[in-house]
Amino acid sequence: MTKHLVMLGLLLAGSVTMASAQAADGKTVYDAQCKKCHGATGTPAGAMAKRFPKMPAFDAAFLAKRSEDSIVTILTKGKNADMKSFKDKMSANEMKAVAKYLHTLGK
Ligand code: HEC
Repeated sequence: MTKHLVMLGLLLAGSVTMASAQAADGKTVYDAQCKKCHGATGTPAGAMAKRFPKMPAFDAAFLAKRSEDSIVTILTKGKNADMKSFKDKMSANEMKAVAKYLHTLGK
């Protein structure tokens, strides 16, 4: 019995480790942290587009001017009042993953 419980514990510990490794998946991060303002496909729509008129669409023209590194810088420092810094909410790996994901949206 005890032996079985130990085995179960090991199995659970294994799946928790896998879940946190997956947290650096760009789409998962985007859907959790960015989608509500920037829209599911990176083009602000509806109420959010009205509320944040300066919010850019992540299209090819925009992304041509923003490297993945410069997006990480924006995520670290924030921009103006509404694009807040995410440095307390995301790891460096998550920022890199979401920057990479933005570039896939612009294609
Ligand atoms: C509360 C709404 C909100 C959330 C959440 C949000 N953003 Fe923004 N974002 C904005 C607004 C508004 C701007 C325009 C800022 C400006 O130029 O004044 C912006 C601008 C940007 C820009 C362009 C900055 C530039 O001019 O180069 C990038 C890139 C960006 N956001 C990425 C993200 C990513 C990635 C996330 C998720 C981790 C995110 N944003 C979450 C509102 C938001």
